[in-house]
Amino acid sequence: LGSTEAFGRLPEPNEFIVIPKSQIHCEKYASSTQAAHCLIYAESNEKVFGIYNPRASILMQLRYDGYFGFPGGLIDSGEDFVTAVNREMAEEMNLDTTIHSVSHDDHVISHWSEKKNLALHFYKLKVKMTELIEIEKRALLAQDYGSEVLGTIRIPLYTLGDHYRGFPVFLKHNFIGCSKEQLIAALSSLNILTPEEIQLALNAHSKNV
Ligand code: GTP
Ligand code: MN
Ligand code: MN
Ligand code: MN
Ligand code: MN
Ligand code: MN
Repeated sequence: LGSTEAFGRLPEPNEFIVIPKSQIHCEKYASSTQAAHCLIYAESNEKVFGIYNPRASILMQLRYDGYFGFPGGLIDSGEDFVTAVNREMAEEMNLDTTIHSVSHDDHVISHWSEKKNLALHFYKLKVKMTELIEIEKRALLAQDYGSEVLGTIRIPLYTLGDHYRGFPVFLKHNFIGCSKEQLIAALSSLNILTPEEIQLALNAHSKNV
């Protein structure tokens, strides 16, 4: 018996299920609440503190409700997913969408919550490291900065020598919706971390607790 069964608890059911790519435009989802969010990232081999190789810089945001999440938001009626996510990135990050915008090909994964009657669509936007730095600076002047968005952050994608600080600790934060699942799905599909590295980070625990 695994430890969960031994304590008489069932594994926590994940309320989100993955929507097959061919079904993201189904009527079932079109008639529910839908939102689209985006992972903005740049590949980078520059070492942090001269030792840790983060491989990529990925942006998330601290939201008004205290959770971490990605830029993006609710799809207005009649709006397509891509228009919505680009509009929300302009509102929340002051992103110049005449230079950087997502297209249908940038779709990463979609999830469905029956309980919340909510479909969540996730996109990626790859930029150069110099562009990512400019995007971060511009974000301070976004219309929704200070209200919906309390800050843009970079994710620590490396793990320190104690096998805990860095990415594993970051994963212990509270994430809105299925944004943690979105991050994990993108990290492996964009070949930023291997599934083994992700699993190690998810399973890591502090030796000081
Ligand atoms: P308003 O403009 O104030 O309506 O907010 P918004 O349009 O920016 O919507 P928001 O980004 O809050 O997203 C709408 C809903 O999607 C939220 O209530 C969450 O349930 C969910 N959500 C928010 N951010 C994320 C995210 O990064 N990933 C996922 N999967 N869900 C999210
Ligand atoms: Mn210091
Ligand atoms: Mn918004
Ligand atoms: Mn939003
Ligand atoms: Mn909105
Ligand atoms: Mn808004």
